[in-house]
Amino acid sequence: MDVRKFSIPEIIFGRGGLRYAGLCARRLGAEKVFLVSDPGVEKAGWVERLMSVLAGEKLNWVYFCNVVSNPRDYQVEAGADLYKLQGADVVIALGGGSPMDAAKGIALLASNGGLITDYEGANRIHRPLPPMLFIPTTAGSGSDVSQFCIITDMKRRVKMSIISRTLVPNISIIDPLILETKTENLIIASAVDALCHAIESYISKIASPFTESQSLKAIDLIVKNLKPAVENRSLENLEQLSIASTAAGMAFSNASLGMAHALAHSLGGIFDTLHGMVHPVLLPSVMRYNYRSCPEKTAVIGRILLGGRRRSEKSTAMAGIVRLEEFLHSFNVSVRLRDIVQNREMLPVLSRIAENDVCLLTNPRPVTWEDFLNVCREAW
Ligand SMILES: [Fe+2]
Repeated sequence: MDVRKFSIPEIIFGRGGLRYAGLCARRLGAEKVFLVSDPGVEKAGWVERLMSVLAGEKLNWVYFCNVVSNPRDYQVEAGADLYKLQGADVVIALGGGSPMDAAKGIALLASNGGLITDYEGANRIHRPLPPMLFIPTTAGSGSDVSQFCIITDMKRRVKMSIISRTLVPNISIIDPLILETKTENLIIASAVDALCHAIESYISKIASPFTESQSLKAIDLIVKNLKPAVENRSLENLEQLSIASTAAGMAFSNASLGMAHALAHSLGGIFDTLHGMVHPVLLPSVMRYNYRSCPEKTAVIGRILLGGRRRSEKSTAMAGIVRLEEFLHSFNVSVRLRDIVQNREMLPVLSRIAENDVCLLTNPRPVTWEDFLNVCREAW
């Protein structure tokens, strides 16, 4: 095996863990926290709750919630200006993937300067970031444990991947109680995103024993717990989804992703699609495309999805993909690309953008823009 690295934050996991946020921020040297969240999380009461925890530690804070789904370059720049103007010292993000990625972008620009587009790609950050404490409110994005930050360049309509070890937060506080206030749609979209992280990281060209075990655990937990979590809202199942999302986050942060995420970023940049809702459309077609470069691993995934093996490795792999399709369809989400794109003439444009996505570097099978186009047609 080539040299591999495995980087994760300090993780504090458990029901009610939010109450440790003030202590943790103090431990990171905070006096004046820059708190990033969004209006949805605020409405659910979690921002107020966190503020009372910070007040309990006699911390000051600056609150920034000008963040939308698929966070924009100009929002990150405005946040960094405010951070510097206010002389904040620690970044806390409370939210799903969007506020967390925006918070990373703000921390990056506040400490390294320039424009967010300067950092697109892998390993372009050269100066340390302020300490970051993240509290995820969804079980999916994995941004609280990952080296990834995804920001939309509005001029090009491209979701840029910024990847660097310095983007791993110092501390992640994962409190499954927060999931109880999430809508059914958000629980599904987040869990399906985590499932895609788990599958793509497992078959990644740079997967390692440290990431593979996390990927497989995540697949198993999501398949077993998503349905009951949606139907019963049982805290037990939601907690298992949190564990799955964290495991998948640790895996993809270190093994990266692949073709499905390259296309998901392309779709999100142009159509502003909710990220998790893209995967039910693309993932089965992408797995069929990749099969020839990772037949054994596709069969291992198949065994988890099917709960056992079939006659041969190939039939296990293929039946597993069919089972994955059935699983995704069972949640009443869009499963055809035409529901998202509408205009078929956009497919070559999407494919050309996806071809340049950094996630493609670790896809097990080489991909040209024509291959993307074929996968899009299959998913149409
Ligand atoms: Fe994702």
